[in-house]
Amino acid sequence: MKRALLIGGTGFLGSALACRLSSADFALTLPTRRRERVKHLTILPTASVVEANVHDPATLAQLVAGQDLVVNLVGILRGDFERAHVALPGKIARAAAAAHIPRLIHISALAAASDAPSRYLRSKAAGEAAVRAAYPEATIFQPSVIFGRNDSFLTLFAKLVRFAPFIPLACPQARFQPVWVEDVVAAILACLDHPESKGQSYPLCGPRVYSLRELVAYVGWLSGHPRPIIGLPLPLSYLQAWLMEWLPGGPLTRDNVRSMQAPNVCPDGCTLPFGLTPTALEAVAPSYLGAR
Ligand SMILES: NC(=O)c1ccc[n+]([C@@H]2O[C@H](COP(=O)([O-])OP(=O)(O)OC[C@H]3O[C@@H](n4cnc5c(N)ncnc54)[C@H](OP(=O)(O)O)[C@@H]3O)[C@@H](O)[C@H]2O)c1
Repeated sequence: MKRALLIGGTGFLGSALACRLSSADFALTLPTRRRERVKHLTILPTASVVEANVHDPATLAQLVAGQDLVVNLVGILRGDFERAHVALPGKIARAAAAAHIPRLIHISALAAASDAPSRYLRSKAAGEAAVRAAYPEATIFQPSVIFGRNDSFLTLFAKLVRFAPFIPLACPQARFQPVWVEDVVAAILACLDHPESKGQSYPLCGPRVYSLRELVAYVGWLSGHPRPIIGLPLPLSYLQAWLMEWLPGGPLTRDNVRSMQAPNVCPDGCTLPFGLTPTALEAVAPSYLGAR
């Protein structure tokens, strides 16, 4: 039985990956900050969910020892980007290199760049560089926004359209190429059978580009609550985000607005690597958002 450590493996993408790796007979270690929040993973037959501080290099060295595969999926949309997106990936890559782990996979984000408009995207780029510096053969994936059951993106709008009579929408023209969570998982698994993927970076996208306005309109229609959408110009988008920053766990920040200034679409019409075919949003979203 092969062994895999999924750091950040208790979240949306990590849970889907854990299910697939467990079915493929991997023995999994899933560190978390709070074990009681991830009971859904403790029932996986080959998974061990452990409370651990993955920022501590000694703890990390213990977790990494003897693994065949290490995947870093830690990501945040607000908070200390330097710690979560730059320092931590560097520590993970150094620990994996020191322990001679044969495969390291790092999940970054589409449009990550050192000159990107947001701190989120710049920190993701710096994290990629930190990983490459310590472990050049890491495989890096850069997904566009990910959809699927329990996603936070489309599900958030589905909740909103239920209660709000109209939607004042920040950045209505922002462009996304949403990719299905199971397609992201398929790409991660496929790279294990493609040794040439070592040292490579892969954008991951779905088959179609949408504006944010189109996505919200689709979610409203699908969930049986079509609502008028009032697109906000950029200054009002920042104002809305600023107001939401005062809410605990508010759904939008000014940094998110800055991220949406960069098109979240794959270059040159590419979608998925390794000959995988991307799944259409319309083929999946009705199963978890649909009232129709
Ligand atoms: N979802 C998307 O649309 C999307 C799009 C592009 C890129 N990505 C990237 O894909 C990866 C996975 O995303 P996701 O949607 O699955 O995220 P998620 O559901 O929010 O899960 C985040 C994971 O990171 C861990 N985590 C968060 N903050 C941490 C911290 N400060 N220290 C240690 N662990 C921490 C959480 O662990 P515990 O809470 O259990 O400790 C959880 O397992 C991230 O790198 C994200 O940036 C996601």
